[in-house]
Order: sequence, then C-alpha cells, then structure tokens
Amino acid sequence: MLSLAEFLIRSASENIDAGTNELEHLLLYSLMRGINARTVIEIGTRRGHSGVWLARAIEDNSGGRLFCIDPFNGTHGSDGEYDQQHAKARFARFGLSNYLILPDLSRVALPMFDDSSVDAAFIDGDHSYSGVSYDFSECKRIVRDGGLVMMHDISNVADVVRFVSELADRKERMLWLPGGLGGLAVYQKVEKKVADFLPLLDVPFQPSSFIARSIIYDGILEGA
Ligand SMILES: C[S@@+](CC[C@H](N)C(=O)[O-])C[C@H]1O[C@@H](n2cnc3c(N)ncnc32)[C@H](O)[C@@H]1O
Repeated sequence: MLSLAEFLIRSASENIDAGTNELEHLLLYSLMRGINARTVIEIGTRRGHSGVWLARAIEDNSGGRLFCIDPFNGTHGSDGEYDQQHAKARFARFGLSNYLILPDLSRVALPMFDDSSVDAAFIDGDHSYSGVSYDFSECKRIVRDGGLVMMHDISNVADVVRFVSELADRKERMLWLPGGLGGLAVYQKVEKKVADFLPLLDVPFQPSSFIARSIIYDGILEGA
C-alpha cells in the first residue's frame, strides 16, 4: 500500500486532464475519513482522478466500496471507453480494487440504491440545472443520517452556481469549501441526531480557507 504522502505525490504528478485538483482531493479524502465512510458513490468518474481519493479513504476506513456511476459512452463530456480504461488503470496504479463501475447515467443507477444505504455521495456528472437538482435530491435520499452529499463546480459552472445559491437561500445546512477547480458544497444529512460536522456548517455561502485548512489537517492527522 502506498503511504498517503506517496499517494499524494503520485496523484499530483498525474494531474493532467483531471476535473478536480489536489486541494479538492484532500478535502474529499478528509471528509470521507471524518465520517468513517465505507460505502460511497461517485457520479461522474471520468478517468478516476477524484475516484482514487474516495476509494483510498474507504480503504483507510477499513474497507468498503466506491460505486462509480458514469455512462462512459462518449457523450456528456466523457471520452467513452477510453476514459473507462484510464479509470481502471488509475485505480490499479494506486493499488485500489475496492470499486465497482456502474456504467449508466445517474437517473438509471441512483434509483437502484435504497434509502439511507450509503455513507456519502460525490456529484460531478451532469452539470445542468436539472442534472444537479436530480442528483442532489436522489443523493439526499440514499445517504444515511450523518452522511454527506458533496457537489463539485459550485463556483465556475453557471447552472451549479444557480442551484447551490438556491440551497443557500433555503438555508440548507451546507459547508462551502474553496478549491482551485470550482470548489465543493458539502451537505450533511441530519435526521435524528446532532452530527459530527454541524458546528462547521453554520457558515455563510462564502468559501473560507480557514475552515478548509482545518478540515484537511484534522483529516490527514487522523489518517496518518
Ligand atoms: C467533469 S467529469 C468528472 C471528473 C472527475 N470527477 C475527475 O475528478 O476528473 C464529468 C463526468 O460525468 C459523466 N456524466 C455526465 N452526465 C452524467 C450523468 N447523468 N450520470 C453519471 N455520469 C455523468 C461524464 O461521462 C464525465 O465522465
């Protein structure tokens, strides 16, 4: 198994054509470690850049599975089979086999998951307003109490900006994290109990590098 430092160096050195960057990868990793996520879904895997970090966090949390939902059909911003082969090769290079590819659109794959059956979901697929609305609402349904729904590109894609602004207006409890390639919105589902990240969620829709830094450091220190 690669050490976390080796993993980071390899990821950074291969960060060509990625849709996500190393800060965002560390945030995803830390958040998954923070809630001890063992079953995670990713909508929009493409060549596996974010996927390997989600899968590594699951591995470091003593195992589970990452479900990679992506049609890999050459539409929707994907290069089809080429992307899928790249993703599989990347998981292998990073020493990970704890993933399952579901080669479908999220509208086909998500209904197969039961309510509250996963720990977390990362949304980076269809960036249209109807696409992110659907994915967010379905992911809220399938994550467990205390689980997280994370959404990418909240500051650089107009439809996603519009959608998360509406979430902010509705006063959904969200955490807004900066990231060089678009940033992350993090929603924590809270049904019955006060969940771990709640103290951090009372921040306005304004990326705060202090909060991002503290989560990275806590997560990495806990995972080291
Ligand atoms: C921006 S890329 C994902 C980047 C990736 N997360 C990374 O870290 O490099 C978007 C991916 O979403 C996929 N996609 C688009 N619409 C989708 C949908 N409705 N359901 C699932 N995947 C979708 C595309 O095939 C493409 O591979």
